[in-house]
Amino acid sequence: MKKIILLYWGMGGNVERTAHKVYNMFDPLTIDISDVVSFDINNIENYDLMILGHSTIGAEDWQEAKADNEWNAFFRRIEEKGSTNIIAASFGLGDQVLYPDHFVDSLGIYNMEMETLGIKTIGRWPTEGYKYTDSDGEKDGKFYGLALDVDNEPELSEKRISQWTDELKKELGI
Ligand SMILES: Cc1cc2nc3c(=O)[nH]c(=O)nc-3n(C[C@H](O)[C@H](O)[C@H](O)COP(=O)(O)O)c2cc1C
Repeated sequence: MKKIILLYWGMGGNVERTAHKVYNMFDPLTIDISDVVSFDINNIENYDLMILGHSTIGAEDWQEAKADNEWNAFFRRIEEKGSTNIIAASFGLGDQVLYPDHFVDSLGIYNMEMETLGIKTIGRWPTEGYKYTDSDGEKDGKFYGLALDVDNEPELSEKRISQWTDELKKELGI
């Protein structure tokens, strides 16, 4: 049976709440959930797909935070472990109104990390319906993963999550 691990960071806010909504879209027999810090990297080979859930906290903040960013530490743990056959899909939270020049940048930043590690990524998502001026999280009219703005469009998130997870299920054949 195909198995999924959903990893998220940070804690106690929109990302954690959204992670549980994404988790609930799957049969509990096929998916496990953990914050990224608690996840034991040695268990990664038990899974076919990892879903990463994160938010963007500002481009400058990202550069400054790089050394102690929990995702960065996670990617270094994968690098140290060596090659993995797992594939990945991401959802990223952002705010189009307050940060229209950096909307969901994290989707692009973490996608690049995974490409460097040789991890295949799936779950691209169309940019139609969003209003922003620039994003490192998009390329050629698609976000690298599901973009969610729960600060300004909470009412759209449920449908977006449902459609996106349906596509993942199709791609995985579950
Ligand atoms: C200090 C700070 C910087 C942020 N910078 C960005 C940004 O550059 N781009 C973006 O799309 N959203 C940005 N956001 C919005 C968050 O990504 C958004 O509010 C998200 O839902 C927060 O999730 P959380 O409650 O789990 O922390 C920023 C939020 C904060 C507090």
